[in-house]
Amino acid sequence: MAAAASQGILGDDMKADREQIVEMLVKAYFMELETVMSYITNSVNPDGIRAREIVESLETDIQEELGHAQQFAARIKELYGVVPGSQQFSAEQSFLQPPEDQTDIAHVIRGVIEAESGAIEHYNAVIEFTEGRDPVTQDLVIAILRDEEGHRRLFEGFLREVEGPGGA
Ligand SMILES: [Fe+2]
Repeated sequence: MAAAASQGILGDDMKADREQIVEMLVKAYFMELETVMSYITNSVNPDGIRAREIVESLETDIQEELGHAQQFAARIKELYGVVPGSQQFSAEQSFLQPPEDQTDIAHVIRGVIEAESGAIEHYNAVIEFTEGRDPVTQDLVIAILRDEEGHRRLFEGFLREVEGPGGA
């Protein structure tokens, strides 16, 4: 049916795929929001000279991650989904909880790397699933993936410096 096919991911014939994509976007949306929460926490709590650069970097990232959440929310709606309410949220970032010692900046850096790695894994899965199905979502997620890869690379550099040669 040419008419249906021409509607792409918004076509009736694509309902099952569309719902699968919405589900993936909901997960991405909550991941971003939890990251915002964790980055606020970790941009305020740390003490010490070595923490300054990390804190400033996280402060900047908060706005970027919030922007990602908003973009995912908008795309969920475009795909006829409903952006979930806060009661559907459940926290997963155990690794970004505040450390015992607020000068333990390596703990924060490792937590950020783990959060970014989780996002990178999920976004690669979305890119794979949307291939040939939903180029608009794919394009959006590729752009966001680039931001997450950039963050992870930056924090890998911070970790090298904090742990010193040979690691800690
Ligand atoms: Fe993000």
